[in-house]
Amino acid sequence: MANIISGKVVSAQVKDRVRQETLALKEQGVEIGLAVIIVGNNQASRVYVDGKKRDCEEVGFVSREYALAEDTTQCELIALVEKLNADDSIHGILVQLPLPSQIDEKAVINTISPKKDVDAFHAENVGNIMIGDYSFLPCTPAGVMELIHSTGVDVCGKNCVVIGRSNIVGKPMAMLLLHENGTVTICHSKTQNLKDICKNADILVAAVGRAKFVTVDMVKEGAVVIDVGMNRNEEGKLCGDVDFDEVSKVAGYITPVPGGVGLMTRAMLMVNTLNAAKMFYNIK
Ligand code: GUN
Repeated sequence: MANIISGKVVSAQVKDRVRQETLALKEQGVEIGLAVIIVGNNQASRVYVDGKKRDCEEVGFVSREYALAEDTTQCELIALVEKLNADDSIHGILVQLPLPSQIDEKAVINTISPKKDVDAFHAENVGNIMIGDYSFLPCTPAGVMELIHSTGVDVCGKNCVVIGRSNIVGKPMAMLLLHENGTVTICHSKTQNLKDICKNADILVAAVGRAKFVTVDMVKEGAVVIDVGMNRNEEGKLCGDVDFDEVSKVAGYITPVPGGVGLMTRAMLMVNTLNAAKMFYNIK
């Protein structure tokens, strides 16, 4: 039976470190601010944004929410981002995705100052990740690395397989594993022999978006299995991309859903916001 990697435990440790540093900075008169912009009435986005607000309270940041109407124009949203770029009390800016169809997400993201881009979605920050010289890491892949580190398994030289090639998860995930000298394969919907490739993975990261996509016959005995998926099953219950009940019988380590990667994504946003504030104040 696999060891369960607890996102609850690891994220609490990460947030506690942020909280302690934030408290110490507060004693020096430094206040840290995160602005979160949500546009429209997407239910899932509302849940995520509320979670981020609670995390800010927990670690001691000031959080400012901007809830804009569904029919907000791109010009209006960009004007708000520009105002927040110039606001010295705000160190991190997050525009919750997806945005309504009349707005070009790329244009909005690339308006965020790279120094306040705590999602690390801006093209400049994405480029910095490629060359391994970064201020921010995207929250989900960074959180996955924390979970892998918590197992004590060394990535160096391991066969690492990432299923999914999104800009937010799959691609940066592969880069972070590569930076730690993993031998990385990215799989996607056109991949041939997916099962064989996955079966060879010492570290398998699933970011597909389909419930029970990773079955037990795709997993090597003793592998570290990280489930980034966030799906609803037939009964409407939250579940990941991995068939947890079966895969946990052969994996060495596995993350649950819920209680795994999702909590780490939130915790790493707090880390990035702290780092953004430290950069702003020139604190090492
Ligand atoms: N929507 C779903 N996940 C995310 C995320 O990590 N950041 C932003 N900005 N929007 C999201």
